[in-house]
Amino acid sequence: MAIYSATVTSPVNIAVIKYWGKRNPSLILPTNSSLSVTLSQDHLSTRTTIACSADFESDRLWLNGVEEDISASKRLVNSIGTARALRASEEAKNPELAPLSQYKIHVCSENNFPTAAGLASSASGYAALVSALGQLFELPQSTAELSRVARVGSGSACRSMFGGFVAWRMGEKEDGEDSMAEQVAERAHWPDLQALILVVSDKKKAVSSTAGMQTTVETSALFAERVRSVVPARMQAMEKAIKERDFAEFAKITMQDSNQFHAVCLDTYPPIAYMNDTSHAVTRIIHAYNAVKGYTAAAYTFDAGPNAVIYAPKSEMRDLVQLFSYLFPRDEDVLPEVFYTNPFGLVGAEEVGQTVSDPAVRKLAETVGKFQAGAVRRLIHTEVGDGPRVLDQAESLLSQSGMPK
Ligand code: DP6
Repeated sequence: MAIYSATVTSPVNIAVIKYWGKRNPSLILPTNSSLSVTLSQDHLSTRTTIACSADFESDRLWLNGVEEDISASKRLVNSIGTARALRASEEAKNPELAPLSQYKIHVCSENNFPTAAGLASSASGYAALVSALGQLFELPQSTAELSRVARVGSGSACRSMFGGFVAWRMGEKEDGEDSMAEQVAERAHWPDLQALILVVSDKKKAVSSTAGMQTTVETSALFAERVRSVVPARMQAMEKAIKERDFAEFAKITMQDSNQFHAVCLDTYPPIAYMNDTSHAVTRIIHAYNAVKGYTAAAYTFDAGPNAVIYAPKSEMRDLVQLFSYLFPRDEDVLPEVFYTNPFGLVGAEEVGQTVSDPAVRKLAETVGKFQAGAVRRLIHTEVGDGPRVLDQAESLLSQSGMPK
């Protein structure tokens, strides 16, 4: 049987100006523009293979090895349906094209990071789905246009369609035609920027972003002010900071915007608290670290959960890894090679949790004092990355017959 297939990987992105709030929940149109940094797929990515064939009997989906009901998710149905409609219009223009829009599809998707890490995977997941569909259907649309299709899967996913520094322009139109992602700067523009993700242990299940932001829109008075005046000014200032590679400005806006996002969550009724005691400790430590250094050396940001993402220039990363691994000792049940993988050869295994080389940073570490082992589960060190990558057939997650390998 004839099988057509495409395989891609897509990156995770972490916003520095947060998307929080929808003006149209079914089309996923936001109340404000947002801006994010795409992280390297070498460390965090979703790989997706999509195959289609006249012989497939139904649309099927496997996520991280488990078959799921594809029709149960309105968002999946919407994004696949939109991509099929785009293909159908090409087929209508060119009768030579195989009628792929009519065929059933098999989707197989895997993250290269454990889902248990609590890192948002919907952004990389939907970006991978839409990139793979674009590839499979040979869609002529630009990446920005395809980002609209990723957007209807999950808002933040539209930003994972590009590498580097990416804005999601909220747009004005009611149909969402102008609500899409745009690259503000390529990864190569600021390759010195790195990220350290502190995966924070969290027993409680958080309120989902989708539900949380809707309650915020309906109940928070602070939120209205954020959308009206704060975010538009910050978008401009952030784009300028990125263009000028002004880390101090980038860091300040990033921290302020994370803090305001969590403030509007607390101003939501009933209130939503995503950060926990460890998260709050990390914010204090970063401000103390910057004070010790005498310049803005690092910035934190938090999404809808307790994990901290720390942005800093590469030159700070050795100190930061040493500091945080000292302060937050590895739990015995986490293997050392999982706790910190030393991807850039900056901090050797013998230093992790033991050595704080810089005397001023060591003094800070001793003043703050160690936390309970396991409060941070692992440290993921990564950097700014590129957009979705197309892989060849050998990397496919589906076999010749269209079933998971
Ligand atoms: C806090 O994109 O997950 O990470 O559009 O409902 O799928 P839906 O929400 P989602 O929200 C992400 C919120 C955030 C901030 C951000 O990424 O900008």
